[in-house]
Amino acid sequence: MLTGKRILLIVSGGIAAFKSLELIRRLRERGASVRCVLTEAGAKFVTPLSLQALSEDRVYSDMFSLTDESEMGHIQLSRDADLLVMAPATADLLARMAAGLADDLAATVLLATDKPVLVAPAMNVRMWTHAATVANVETLRRRGVHFVGPNDGAMACNEFGPGRMSEPAEILSAIESVLVPREQPLAGKRAVVTSGPTREAIDPVRYISNHSSGKQGHAIASALAALGAQVTLVSGPVALGDPPGLRTVRVDSADQMLAACLAAGRIDIAVCAAAVADWKAARPTAAKLKKKAGAAPPTLELALNPDILATLAKPGPQRPALVVGFAAETENLVANAIDKRRRKGCDWIVANDVSPASGTFGGERNTVHLISAAGVESWPTLSKDDVAMRLAGRVALHFSQPTKAEAAE
Ligand code: PMT
Repeated sequence: MLTGKRILLIVSGGIAAFKSLELIRRLRERGASVRCVLTEAGAKFVTPLSLQALSEDRVYSDMFSLTDESEMGHIQLSRDADLLVMAPATADLLARMAAGLADDLAATVLLATDKPVLVAPAMNVRMWTHAATVANVETLRRRGVHFVGPNDGAMACNEFGPGRMSEPAEILSAIESVLVPREQPLAGKRAVVTSGPTREAIDPVRYISNHSSGKQGHAIASALAALGAQVTLVSGPVALGDPPGLRTVRVDSADQMLAACLAAGRIDIAVCAAAVADWKAARPTAAKLKKKAGAAPPTLELALNPDILATLAKPGPQRPALVVGFAAETENLVANAIDKRRRKGCDWIVANDVSPASGTFGGERNTVHLISAAGVESWPTLSKDDVAMRLAGRVALHFSQPTKAEAAE
């Protein structure tokens, strides 16, 4: 599948660097050529000789090597590939890339390239979850950098959690999905995805909201767009950037979210992953509520918000062909979700546990059950991106099957 493709593999310092040797072998088996850039720290874990032997090409390390520059300047090195792959990518190299530094050969080719970049991070779990790394990854994703992993698991430093570099087979399949044009089974379909929390104003400075980060909803919007759908993402206030390749409408309240969904016009697919506040302040005040000495705290009267999912799922000529809701539960997950699917009138509901111990709100991973008229399908714990891709795949499958009317003909 990768015949004739040229990969520039940047190997930075980390115990996972040994897996890059296996990656080179597998890439070459599939017909790709591999040229390696080895950082100074990377050379502490794998030797230039091993990389050279497996890639059957010379290994580049030194930005100021006269021989390298006369044979292949670093700008050309970065352009002469179809894809740059960083495996393993350390927190340090990600930070330098996000900051646009060019202080060694690896950082320089990353800054100079006009080719897609795929990153396979590998680092200690605390480094991966550190606010600085989270912000750097977010910046790079916004710039269109592709990521694979990291995976959960036991680490060389005796800690457990996300930070292990993806396996060579996973990196290979991520490389194929970047380089080999994907089928676009949802081309011609229009979708609306809601994501994130809503904010319901109490007064100009206070609001009712929840812990949704938008990660799951945004990932679904991107996954549907990757399969060719024309997607409008209606997002509540989140810290995430607008995903590339689709239209994002940013809103605050449930009323605004509903209006934005309806304004998207006729759609084929609706996926409601937003954590919409069920209630809003009945009478938000124009001025800040003042605390008066000796007075009792004010009583907050609530009013019901519109139900966006139930509105979109209402039968009628405007109803999307497929309406998917989410059920966020802290108890009786599947039973409550089955009931919710019926009450809201959606076709599928994706049930997930949002009790604090689950880490679903704001976390990177999700454990879901897909509930439809056909029954309950429990998925393993996956990254939110993988849940999204799997769900988008199911949506595509749904549209590829003949409708009952077509089947009866
Ligand atoms: O954003 P993340 O941090 O990644 O977390 C993801 C998530 C937990 C928010 C997501 O996976 C999820 O479960 N989203 C639905 C949250 C929710 O509000 O669930 P619910 O069970 O309260 O609502 C059921 C469904 O009705 C949902 O599809 C919801 O979008 C929809 N709804 C609810 C109320 C309302 N007024 N309008 C709605 O459309």
